[in-house]
Amino acid sequence: MEDIAAFSHSSLKKTDYHIKKLAKFDLIRSNGVKYTLSYYGFDILALNAMYKKKIIRSIGDQIGYGKESDIYEILAFNDKTYILKIHREGFSFKKVLNNRPNMYKRNWFNISTKSALREKEALSRLYSSVSVPKPIATNRHFIVLEKIDGTMLKYTYLEDPEWFFEGIINEIRKSYHCGIVHGDLSEYNILIDGDRVVLIDWPQFIYSKEDMADKILTRDIKKIVYYFIRKYSLNKEINDVLKKIKD
Ligand SMILES: Nc1ncnc2c1ncn2[C@@H]1O[C@H](COP(=O)(O)OP(=O)(O)OP(=O)(O)O)[C@@H](O)[C@H]1O
Ligand SMILES: [Mg+2]
Repeated sequence: MEDIAAFSHSSLKKTDYHIKKLAKFDLIRSNGVKYTLSYYGFDILALNAMYKKKIIRSIGDQIGYGKESDIYEILAFNDKTYILKIHREGFSFKKVLNNRPNMYKRNWFNISTKSALREKEALSRLYSSVSVPKPIATNRHFIVLEKIDGTMLKYTYLEDPEWFFEGIINEIRKSYHCGIVHGDLSEYNILIDGDRVVLIDWPQFIYSKEDMADKILTRDIKKIVYYFIRKYSLNKEINDVLKKIKD
């Protein structure tokens, strides 16, 4: 308590009052000796920063519950509606160990912050040439994105599957040549907005020049090809598609 009071240039009495209040709202946790920030507290810090930077004016409905994120609609200070994706990678311990072995030693806040930054990095690099949501801002584990008025490929019935398949492959091809492989591509991470195909959910991307890139690209392609074979009986060869992407 003394350390916190000194750090915040506050009296012990005031510090004690604030600490108790924060604990009451579950923004910090205490075992009587140590105080730690809770996930809610981390959310509030990010929200406050985005409010002060005049990005998020108010939060609307939750529109998605990803395995590793919460997705909300937000109203920005410029009166636009955007998407807020709150990365929650730290919640899924096993998944973190399996997918991101180099990150497991760091704490959850760092893991989810790193994911938001990774997603911003991929989207910033791709946005001018590939159909992805425009990244607006990040803070801690928050990323604000352009809102896509589309439906997941999984829940869309395509009248012309061949045309959409070619469109998806073309976006993957452009990403590859921008130096990025998605790494978790599937019918869940593609949105269809009219005749526009949008690739979302990029935190696990890898660079095309990395050793594993070809293997991961092949896995992405297989998922898409098998999906179109299963649902639309489209006749596609993995190797032909791969060749098209890499040429
Ligand atoms: N920019 C966007 N515009 C509109 N909807 C979006 C946008 N980004 C995400 N969503 C919605 O939120 C859902 C989850 O987003 P995303 O796939 O990025 O997160 P996720 O946590 O990785 O999800 P999962 O692990 O289940 O794949 C999407 O399927 C989509 O319905
Ligand atoms: Mg997803």
